[in-house]
Parts: sequence; C-alpha cells; structure tokens
Amino acid sequence: MDNINGLRSRLQLLLNQRRFAHSLRVEQQSIDLACKHGVDQHRASLAGLLHDVARNLNAEQLITAARQARLPLCEEDIKTPLLLHAPVGAIILKNDWDIDDQEILEAVSQHTVAAANMSNLSKVIYLADMIEPGRDHWSGLEQLREMSDKDLNAAMLLALENVFDYLRKKNRHIHPNSYAAYEYFKRLQSSAN
Ligand SMILES: [Fe+2]
Ligand SMILES: [Fe+2]
Repeated sequence: MDNINGLRSRLQLLLNQRRFAHSLRVEQQSIDLACKHGVDQHRASLAGLLHDVARNLNAEQLITAARQARLPLCEEDIKTPLLLHAPVGAIILKNDWDIDDQEILEAVSQHTVAAANMSNLSKVIYLADMIEPGRDHWSGLEQLREMSDKDLNAAMLLALENVFDYLRKKNRHIHPNSYAAYEYFKRLQSSAN
C-alpha cells in the first residue's frame, strides 16, 4: 500500500495552493464516486489525488516531455498543449513516482480528453475532475453531479456533450479522442435504451 500522506506532501511541493486544493477535492470526489459505483477506492484515491501532477508544466515542457516519451501527438495536442498534462502526468507518475498500476496511469492519462472504452476508474476520475465541489457554477453542473451519482456512462455522455457545446461556443477544436469517446458512450446509451 502506498503511503498516501507521503504522496500528498510530495504533490503539495509541486503544485500551487489552488491546484493542490483542487487535487484534494478531486481525490475525495473520486473516492465518493468509486464507493457509489463499486470501483476500487484506493485506486480512485491515488488517481484522483495525482491526476494533475503535470499541471505545473508549461506548453513547451509538455510538448518536450510528450516527444521524449514518443507519445503520438495530433494537431489538437500541438494547438492546445495544456491537454498534454494528462498523458505526460501518467508518464511522470510511472517514471518518477514508481506508480505502475496500469489502470491508475490510464485514468490519469485520459482525464483531459477522455477516450473510447474507458475503465470505470477512468470515468470516475474524469467526472470527479469536472464536478468536484470547488468548481465554478455552470448551467449543467447540478445535472451532471446527479447523473454521476447514478450512472457513469450516461454521465460521461452528458459531460462530453457539455464540453463540446463549450468548445464550439469558444470556436475551439475538439480532440479526436473526445469524438471517439462521445461515439462510444452514445452507442452504449442507445443499446441500453
Ligand atoms: Fe487536469
Ligand atoms: Fe484537475
């Protein structure tokens, strides 16, 4: 069992106060969702706490780290390098934090743009990041919170629809992995209904 307090202290040295506080809230929110949906709570705690481990890196550092790790980069990653803090975070956790649990690494890696075939742990982290209690209010937030408690797949679809609306309004591109995730969750929903 990892020493979670040790990991918290190490993370605190790395992130500014606001981001560290967000990480602690995402950890709690992830444990809460994990509990409700039968997901391993220890993994949810670790992945939630550490999901933003690379959030302090700037665009240039993120692109350099991604290239060094030979991550496949698409146009959207280059246009919005901030998205890379998720996959680069997973690499940092693996290489520097001795975290070798594949499911935790994947959940961290997928928390910005999502993916098709996400594990329940990945869905928990993605949603916890969006709904943690410190998030600024937006019109669909309460509905997303309620849906996250009830049904992870339906909540993922709702979350992605909201993200797409937001990006379209801002005239920003949608990452291909997010499209793939959207199609995946939409298919799941239509076969469930
Ligand atoms: Fe993040
Ligand atoms: Fe976050």
